[in-house]
Amino acid sequence: MAAESTQMASTEFTNPNLEVLYSEETICARIKELGEQITREYAGKDLVLVSVLKGSCIFLADLMRNIDLNLTIDFMSVSSYKDGTKSTGDVEILKDLSNPIRDKDVLLVEDIVDTGLTLSRLLEILGSRGAASIKLASFLDKPEPRIKKELKIDYTGFVVPNKFVVGYGLDAAGRYRNLPFIAIVKNPAEA
Ligand code: IMP
Ligand code: MG
Repeated sequence: MAAESTQMASTEFTNPNLEVLYSEETICARIKELGEQITREYAGKDLVLVSVLKGSCIFLADLMRNIDLNLTIDFMSVSSYKDGTKSTGDVEILKDLSNPIRDKDVLLVEDIVDTGLTLSRLLEILGSRGAASIKLASFLDKPEPRIKKELKIDYTGFVVPNKFVVGYGLDAAGRYRNLPFIAIVKNPAEA
């Protein structure tokens, strides 16, 4: 049989421009651990998970099913103003929370913290609304480009290198959110 005919055509999930960093199984095991930790630490509290759209939707869906507590969820959507390609830290609220967070224990659920500018601003905005507590869960932490060094991530899935990563909710110009794993884009110009 000719070599060409034995090779499978690549699909979105087997795209050769992607290098898998964390497999579906590895992610699943880590989220179970995070869920168990959050379950222990928020026992007896009035927990609201606030997902920052769109990137954190898959993390939220998996995380919440591993938190064995009476909880509610809410969503926020913000757009970060960019100065060229860099985040400026100014955020516009595109969709605000549906319910007040006064006296609630809020856990902000993010996909990735990079410079930290967007999230710092979001924490300031939510910080003025009388929540009992506000903590941060980020699926990924990319510490190298961090500008807001003081930003504390209370629950982190994985710490990633300073590379552009996609999948499991994270996108490149809207693409790749549906990958069940996290991958590094080998050649971002081709993404
Ligand atoms: P920052 O922390 O204000 O720089 O913004 C973080 C946001 O930038 C995240 O919520 C993502 O939407 C996006 N982002 C940063 N790094 C990556 C990456 O490697 N892949 C995909 N999106 C990223
Ligand atoms: Mg985000």
